[in-house]
This record gives sequence, structure tokens and C-alpha cells, in this order.
Amino acid sequence: MADEFAIGTLEPQSLDAFLDLLAHYLGPVAAPRYRWLYLGNPHGTARTYVVRHRPSGRLVGCTSLFPRRVAIGDRVVLAALGGDAYVLPEMRRRGLARRLHEETRAALGGELAFMFGPPAPDNLRVLMRVGARQVRTLRHFTCPLRGAWVGRWLRQRSAGHGILGRLVHMVPPAVLESTFDCLERAAALRFAAHRGRPLLPVERVDDRWDDLWERARPRGAVAPVRDSAYLQWRFLDQPGQDVRMLALPSPGSTRQLSGYAVIDTCHGRLTIYDLLCERWEDVVALAEGLRQIARNQNLDAATLRLDQGGPYVAVLLWAGFLPTPKPVPFQILAPPGSLAAAQAGALPWLFTLGDEDWSGAALNP
Ligand SMILES: CC(C)(COP(=O)(O)OP(=O)(O)OC[C@H]1O[C@@H](n2cnc3c(N)ncnc32)[C@H](O)[C@@H]1OP(=O)(O)O)[C@@H](O)C(=O)NCCC(=O)NCCS
Repeated sequence: MADEFAIGTLEPQSLDAFLDLLAHYLGPVAAPRYRWLYLGNPHGTARTYVVRHRPSGRLVGCTSLFPRRVAIGDRVVLAALGGDAYVLPEMRRRGLARRLHEETRAALGGELAFMFGPPAPDNLRVLMRVGARQVRTLRHFTCPLRGAWVGRWLRQRSAGHGILGRLVHMVPPAVLESTFDCLERAAALRFAAHRGRPLLPVERVDDRWDDLWERARPRGAVAPVRDSAYLQWRFLDQPGQDVRMLALPSPGSTRQLSGYAVIDTCHGRLTIYDLLCERWEDVVALAEGLRQIARNQNLDAATLRLDQGGPYVAVLLWAGFLPTPKPVPFQILAPPGSLAAAQAGALPWLFTLGDEDWSGAALNP
């Protein structure tokens, strides 16, 4: 039987049809997102693959590669975040996503070494069938700031856990919450030495960020490059974006930086989209500064998502960030025998919510 579908790269004459398809998936943000994410990325324009339904001429599916320079130890390769995989609901379960990912994989290994990212579960299953490997596990880490959050967390975690569950449910919520509030104030004293380092709002990213990246990039891990051009585009120029970028100056210096964080507040908590720090004490100072900001805004908790075995996790655990139960698989897709993919898959990653293409990336701690 003749193949009803044609798979290939997005051609200029199909752009309007592609934007309609993207709008079907994402709504009215599709067109500004296309200009910003597909065309404006300083690490390279997107490579987009589409599937056309031959009988009707319609575009019915797509997926894209968003180039990103990635540091693997001391070397830097050009790879790509995978994103915007979508097939119209009436065309699903016919193997179209599989064929799109096969097309993508065939293009990898040349200019773009490999594709990476934490796909949604339906897409991950398809990717694994075309040779993707789950190489890391991401997890949300949440720092409780108020007893109300801790009460909810304990009740969720202990539900169905026999004696522990019964014990937690026996303690009146008000007692649990006020006990936590007292303990939190006492425990926060261990950070006293790290207080007082200001976090300064950033309006434009300049060459100090390139310098910070060179000093702070984690050399025992894989890290998508956080150079000044990328940071400006990703966090400050994103249309409709309302995140705040905060710089942590080095002690005793007005010019040099020791770290930064990109934050937002929603659903009563402070979300840390991205961070980079030079030394462990900068991580503690940054975490303490952010906790202070969250407390001042009367928020319940501060949260971020990281590779559970990656940079900053040990320090953040010590600083009071608790792992949340739901793991998020992180995969790499590459042609067989890719050395860069093998190296990238063998190391922990610095991969934050901000490394994704979407500021609303699944926040489900
Ligand atoms: C994820 C998504 C792209 C998958 O598209 P799709 O074209 O349906 O994917 P495929 O057809 O290749 O595979 C999907 C399933 O159909 C099955 N399938 C494929 N061909 C089939 C056929 N002829 N008959 C029956 N089942 C079939 C596959 O085995 C797979 O099964 P699984 O869900 O148990 O793993 C699509 O569901 C989608 O657009 N979702 C919404 C957007 C989204 O979540 N994108 C991912 C963001 S990371």
C-alpha cells in the first residue's frame, strides 16, 4: 500500500502550515515562540522535521532540534535540545512520532552531535524505541519555608505507610506546622555566616557572565553552555517571560560574579529556573538569599529541578532542599557509535528547568 505520509525537513513554503500546526499544539504563543526560539537562538537556528498527510496536503506532525553548545568536561560540542514534538490527535498511534524521531536521529552525528532532554512519558517511550537511552534522572528539590507546606508534604509522603502514616495523621496540623516554623528558625542559624551577600537584579547580561561561566562551569559534569549571549536571549529576551535574574557578586568585588539565579514565583512558591555558582559556599549564599526573598514574599517553599546525582545537589540537600518523589527521565538520542553521546551519557549533568525550551516546563514537585 502507498505511503500516505511524507516525512522531511520544514521547507520555507510550508512555514504558514507549520505555524498553524504549532498553534494547534501551543495556542497563540506559537508565532512569537517561533521567531524567538526557532530563529533567535544564539547557538543556532532550529532544525524542524514535519510529516505531511499526502491525500490532504496537511502538515499533521512535527519535531524540532534546538541547538545548544554543551560542555563535556573540558571540551564543548554542538548538540541539541529536542522539543515541540507533536502529532495531531486524529493522526496518533500510527507510528508518525517514531518516523519523525528516526528522521531526526539520521540527521544527528554531523553538525549536531546528539539530541538530549527530558521528554513527556508518551514521547519518551517512542524515543526509546528508536534508540534513545535514559542516561540520567532529574528530580525536583524543594526547600520548605512554612509549616503549612511541610504538613502537606508529610501527609502525602506518609499516606499508605502504615505506622508512619498513622503517626503523621495523629498529630494535629497546627502543632506540626508551628513546630516546623520554630525548628526552621533555629536551623537557619547554620547559614548565618553566609548571609549578607546581596543578590542584585540583572537587566542586561554582559561579559562578566562569560567570565563566570569559564570559572564556574562544572568540569566533572556535562553542562549546556551558559554564555552571556545565551543567557540574555533565554531569560531576558524571551517574549512574555517574566522571570527575574539575580547576580551574586564575588565577596569584596563590585564587578566579578560568583554566581547567578533565575527565579519566578507561582502557586505560592519560588521556582529557581537556573543557577550557576563558582564554589559550594556561593551555592549556600545564593540559596540563603533566595530563601530570604521567598520568606519576604510570604511564599511556602523554594523549588528547583536538577539531575539527582549532578552538581549542587549535595550542598542543596545540606541547605534544606528535600528531594520530591517523582523522577523525571532524561534521555540522549544519537547515532550508534557516537563518542560524544557516550561521554555525555557517562557523566552527571547540570540540567535545570531553564535548560528546557519552555518556561512552563512540568512543575510537579
Ligand atoms: C507524544 C506524541 C508526539 C506521539 O505521537 P504518535 O504519532 O502517536 O506516536 P507513535 O504513533 O509513534 O507511537 C505512539 C504509540 O502508538 C503505538 N503505535 C504506533 N503505530 C501503531 C499502529 N499502527 N497501531 C497501533 N499502535 C501503534 C506505538 O507503539 C506507541 O505505543 P505506546 O504509547 O504504548 O508507546 C503525541 O502523542 C503527541 O503529540 N502528544 C501531545 C504533545 C506531546 O506530549 N509532545 C511531547 C512533548 S515532550
